[in-house]
Amino acid sequence: MSGTRKLHIKSYGCQMNVYDSQRMTDTMAREGFVEAAAPEDADLIVLNTCHIREKAAEKVYSELGRIRRLKEGAARAGRKVVVAVAGCVAQAEGEEIIRRAPVVDLVFGPQNYHRLPDLLARAERGAKVVDTEFAVEDKFAALAPASRAATRARGVTAFVTVQEGCDKFCTFCVVPYTRGAEVSRPVARIVAEVERLADAGVREVTLIGQNVNAYHGEGPDGAWTLARLLHRLAGIDGIARLRYATSHPRDMDAALIAAHRDLAVLMPQLHLPVQSGSDRILAVMNRRHTRSDYLDVIARLKAARPDMAFSSDFIVGSPGETEADFAATLAIVGEVGYAGAFSFKYSPRPGTPAAERDDQVDDDAKVERLARLQAEIDRHQAAFNETCVGRTLDVLFEKPGRLPGQLVGRSPYLQPVQAMAPASLIGEVVAVAITRAGSNSLFGEVARPFAHEPAPALASLES
Ligand code: 5AD
Ligand code: SF4
Repeated sequence: MSGTRKLHIKSYGCQMNVYDSQRMTDTMAREGFVEAAAPEDADLIVLNTCHIREKAAEKVYSELGRIRRLKEGAARAGRKVVVAVAGCVAQAEGEEIIRRAPVVDLVFGPQNYHRLPDLLARAERGAKVVDTEFAVEDKFAALAPASRAATRARGVTAFVTVQEGCDKFCTFCVVPYTRGAEVSRPVARIVAEVERLADAGVREVTLIGQNVNAYHGEGPDGAWTLARLLHRLAGIDGIARLRYATSHPRDMDAALIAAHRDLAVLMPQLHLPVQSGSDRILAVMNRRHTRSDYLDVIARLKAARPDMAFSSDFIVGSPGETEADFAATLAIVGEVGYAGAFSFKYSPRPGTPAAERDDQVDDDAKVERLARLQAEIDRHQAAFNETCVGRTLDVLFEKPGRLPGQLVGRSPYLQPVQAMAPASLIGEVVAVAITRAGSNSLFGEVARPFAHEPAPALASLES
């Protein structure tokens, strides 16, 4: 091999794709690849794609147009570039991608990315390679761990996949087809990974999975629940904060709710998608819970942890959704009082039951409902942010902020918080007096540099 080879990965979609891209980077580092910030410099370009909504896939094809020109330019300069499409579009479309975009050399799904070194070797010998079989071997075990330096460069917060795939089969969703059946990683592997992260300076870990609270990984004494796993991880030195996403309302068991009461490091914030506020639509979606089941879970969480903040995902214009169904969705936003939410127009996904229905809602209605819903969500988000003004919140500072001398971090409720603070406080949980709320972030002043230490440390900050 001549010289160092360069890799550029672009991630679309969810946090799990971000995690997968990092693990691909770590695995290719073992093969001698370094990261290239821009695709122009790379010998291997990977698009780690998302198939959740139509727009996500379309973005990939337009990016491939740009990459084709880049690859042709490199070829004229005598440099060979390998182009790979990974992730959920790759899984769903397979070789169709190479047919539609011949610039692509390599297509592999989310269950195959640990094989990237071998797949690349085949592509470099000139073959077009497609690997979308669900692998039987343990993907995570085959991947290289991140080096200490790579972990440090990624900052003081990290994602760790603990569970992947989904067996719920909501009628609108492609995930069970792209990510496959639900699989949980063993407890010991997750503990080792979090210990490694903590040792490299990570302070906050978000456990991720498409259905993370259905976690049931193998422990030393049988299967462990997510609640048990959180208790175990809470004991790891250096870990100041734990979060988990994304959860299904049906899997919020009593032990997990109690963990929000009992574990100080478990943040009082939960992303708990409801999708719709209408029982009729929830049934069509095969969500397997009603509006009142959901509100009951919210009430139990608030009883366990009164300052709990919630966020959700919503879909508007699902097949058969009437104005009355939509009104029920609008109403639930106020009833829960969300701190934030994502909302989407229903997008028919090939192969899913909802896409086959003949009662599709027309796009004008979707556009109009989305605007109304987003306005309602924004109103509640602003109201929630306003309630933080005048309070002192623990902030984990993550990186330099917008202005010189500023740092930005996150509150326990996941809001970005900007404050004047020295760079030495990156990675520290600091008490910040909130003085102002913007639409998406809070602004404040450092009250005490260390949230849980007495005032004297302030002197060192001021000096
Ligand atoms: N159309 C629109 N939104 C969707 N989501 C999932 N599938 C679809 C679809 N077919 C949304 C859901 C989910 C989030 C990740 O994306 O709200 O929670
Ligand atoms: Fe997109 Fe779902 Fe795949 Fe994540 S798991 S990349 S959200 S389709």
